Amino acid sequence: MSSLSETDIDTVLDIEAASFPSPWSRASFEGELAEKTSRSLVIKKKQQEKQDRVIAYLFFRLLEDEMYIMNLAVDPVYRRCGVATFLLEYSLKLARRYSSKKAFLDVRASNDSAIKLYKKMGFCEVGRRQRYYLETREDAVVMVKEVTRAADQDIQV
Ligand SMILES: CC(C)(COP(=O)(O)OP(=O)(O)OC[C@H]1O[C@@H](n2cnc3c(N)ncnc32)[C@H](O)[C@@H]1OP(=O)(O)O)[C@@H](O)C(=O)NCCC(=O)NCCS
Repeated sequence: MSSLSETDIDTVLDIEAASFPSPWSRASFEGELAEKTSRSLVIKKKQQEKQDRVIAYLFFRLLEDEMYIMNLAVDPVYRRCGVATFLLEYSLKLARRYSSKKAFLDVRASNDSAIKLYKKMGFCEVGRRQRYYLETREDAVVMVKEVTRAADQDIQV
């Protein structure tokens, strides 16, 4: 597990384009990397004689005692293997270390796979932002999870 670096952005843009109707731009990723409250986590696959390749990433922000999940995507080839679950669990443990009490996220109302993932992780729907996504006028589902004192001894902060 590591943080995202500038040299990973090209691969991340490919995963982003394969994952979202309105992908983040290079400037969005650069802005998030420069944001003081933002943290990133990436999972990489080792490649022979080449730089390790990003296969999944998660961005979150730590604001006072709350954590906000800003972006999460897994390369389509590596989905349904528990990668997103692992990233989420790891980020929640980190957030706990930084004294977060609640984790929040927004997800498109039509994004059934992500909503299933978040519910399985213990997130609950607490509201909707009507027609939040401008290009499709789709609602955002707002979800929250208490950041509990789960076993977080095995991670490095
Ligand atoms: C949503 C996403 C991050 C899930 O990543 P993943 O690594 O495949 O997820 P996991 O393997 O950890 O799945 C955990 C659980 O989530 C649910 N889930 C994940 N993908 C699912 C799918 N396509 N259909 C139904 N349930 C799904 C299942 O309950 C799954 O558990 P199971 O495999 O034991 O049934 C991935 O599909 C993705 O990158 N999608 C595009 C980007 C996106 O929507 N990001 C979220 C933005 S809010």
